[in-house]
Amino acid sequence: MEIGIIGAGNIGGNAARRFALGGHGVVLSYSRDPANLDELAREIGGTARVGTPAEAAGCDVVMVSVPWPMIDDAIDRAGSLEGTVVIDTTNQFSSGGVVTFPGGGTAAQYNAARMKGARYTKSFNTLTAGFQAQAADRPARDRVVQWVCGDDGEAKALVMGLIDDAGYASVDLGGLAGCAVMEAPRRAGAVYGEEWRLPDALAVAEAVRLGRAIPETPAY
Ligand SMILES: NC(=O)c1ccc[n+]([C@@H]2O[C@H](COP(=O)([O-])OP(=O)(O)OC[C@H]3O[C@@H](n4cnc5c(N)ncnc54)[C@H](OP(=O)(O)O)[C@@H]3O)[C@@H](O)[C@H]2O)c1
Repeated sequence: MEIGIIGAGNIGGNAARRFALGGHGVVLSYSRDPANLDELAREIGGTARVGTPAEAAGCDVVMVSVPWPMIDDAIDRAGSLEGTVVIDTTNQFSSGGVVTFPGGGTAAQYNAARMKGARYTKSFNTLTAGFQAQAADRPARDRVVQWVCGDDGEAKALVMGLIDDAGYASVDLGGLAGCAVMEAPRRAGAVYGEEWRLPDALAVAEAVRLGRAIPETPAY
């Protein structure tokens, strides 16, 4: 599969490395200094290449991984996302702190609405980039969970396969309306900012599905 990355920085850069190690092609885009993308493509090697955000959006899957204030610009430069499977890694931090949404919706709902026509998923957003890099590819029983939410089941299944290929354990946290537990800020009663592994994470998904409080964060 070819995966476009819009914002190949801390999170997108690590994901690109991991996808490439998992056997996928990557197209790196969106930088203030194209030399940064060239350098990353060289480092990854193989079929990794640099492209425009529109080229990244033309791949089988596109990851949007830019700072919150840059999302509208990234979407504009991507062009049409109609029918495109998107992985959104962003968290709603602006210069004023954590952004809240009218009506109490989730950041994922807000972003899905502005990525018109996209087959939207959200993932790779709950753990620091350093930890994601360091914890990738552990033996199966210790694998770190990357949560996924989305309202398009097929898109979510495809993204879960990519997460597994990237060296993590994928867990479906449900739809966009109920995914607040995987969104910023770090707080009691949420999975954001915490390490989870299987099978504990499956109990979280079940609690979210049933509208119950999630289990306490395990200590590994
Ligand atoms: N960092 C984390 O630990 C972490 C963890 C979970 C989720 N997230 C979320 O994931 C998203 C990406 O985070 P990140 O830390 O990976 O971001 P980042 O490295 O600061 O930025 C991502 C990429 O966007 C490009 N970029 C930044 N500002 C730009 C601008 N004004 N114009 C054009 N390109 C620009 C940068 O390229 P150049 O620097 O080459 O210009 C960079 O490679 C954010 O929404 C963040 O909240 C981050």
